[in-house]
Amino acid sequence: MLVPYFDLKLQFSNLRSEIMQALDRVCSSTSFVLGEEVSEFEKEFAAYCEVKCCVALNSGTSALHLALLALGVRLGDEVITTPNTFIATAEAICYAGAKPVFVDIDPKAANLDPALIEPAITERTKAILPVHLYGRPADMDRILEIARTHSLAVIEDACQAHGARYRGRRVGSIGHAAAFSFYPSKNLSAYGEGGALTTNDAAVAELARALRNHGQSSPYTHARIGYNYRMEGFQGAVLRVKLKRLEQWNARRKEIAALYRSVLQGAKVEIPADDPRDESVYHLFVVYVERRDQVRAALEARGVHTAVHYPRAVNLQPAFAALGFGPGSFPHAERACERALSMPFFPEMSDEQVRYAAEQLAEIVGGR
Ligand SMILES: Cc1ncc(COP(=O)(O)O)c(C=O)c1O
Repeated sequence: MLVPYFDLKLQFSNLRSEIMQALDRVCSSTSFVLGEEVSEFEKEFAAYCEVKCCVALNSGTSALHLALLALGVRLGDEVITTPNTFIATAEAICYAGAKPVFVDIDPKAANLDPALIEPAITERTKAILPVHLYGRPADMDRILEIARTHSLAVIEDACQAHGARYRGRRVGSIGHAAAFSFYPSKNLSAYGEGGALTTNDAAVAELARALRNHGQSSPYTHARIGYNYRMEGFQGAVLRVKLKRLEQWNARRKEIAALYRSVLQGAKVEIPADDPRDESVYHLFVVYVERRDQVRAALEARGVHTAVHYPRAVNLQPAFAALGFGPGSFPHAERACERALSMPFFPEMSDEQVRYAAEQLAEIVGGR
């Protein structure tokens, strides 16, 4: 059997006629940048996230950048975040002129360990930037409590967690602002690049809205230097079609994850723990295994394609070498990156494909 790691073609064939009509609406209205489809998507996504405001943008990275700026992060500030993430989380901090200060993860959850945040706070710390990695919510209550004590902003990197719930609340509605990505591989994805900033603070949304459009405060008046971070009309139209299916896709992701867990019982793999009070949306299904690269090659030989998120902790990326966090600085994150293996995962997978992939993995790693 062949099990692809990811496949968007099946999703498109199920949505084809609705997508074509949506694209046709954009062509007919000629609203190629922002416009009606994008503003309707903003309302619908805000309602879905149970948050007051949504600002549609051209990527998750732009959303992180504008969230940091709108919450007052400036040159010379420090922002505390996790090294077990995609590089964009840390890059956005640098775009705002600030310095990423990494703290290690809780190895059981793979997310930022709240117990390590306070010792990393200095008089320059301005914000905490937790990531809901793999679609599993970070421990927001403890993070918010620390932020309140030290008057810090909290920005959620929800780029992998559309629809997840922390203690019943949607991620993206919990911190002062949040960033979502609609990159094609995400749970909710555009046909190109896309992102959104969500917030309950109307002033933050207003500032982000101006900054995404060259700092424009009224037509041809630019109150500040901004960016071209606008969402395209096509992306808004596609996202509106897909948003209606997100709950159903996330429910299927949970079923697939449960099937993986049950077949992998007893096998020599570690799977990050789900807190029963929360709802993960399984952007990825990551297992931790010893000799990851050999296991990956053996799976490939049996027709099971996999990926790695992420092969290197962000502190060990050459781009961040100047920060001086060398090997061993964040042992749990670095060890996670040595062992992480992302199994095939997308809502259109059949139970047979999931079972086959999980059985092959169990056979290769042993322990049952
Ligand atoms: C955790 C995380 N943060 C930020 C981003 C950046 O999003 P984008 O690729 O839309 O800029 C991504 C997506 O790739 C991500 O997974």
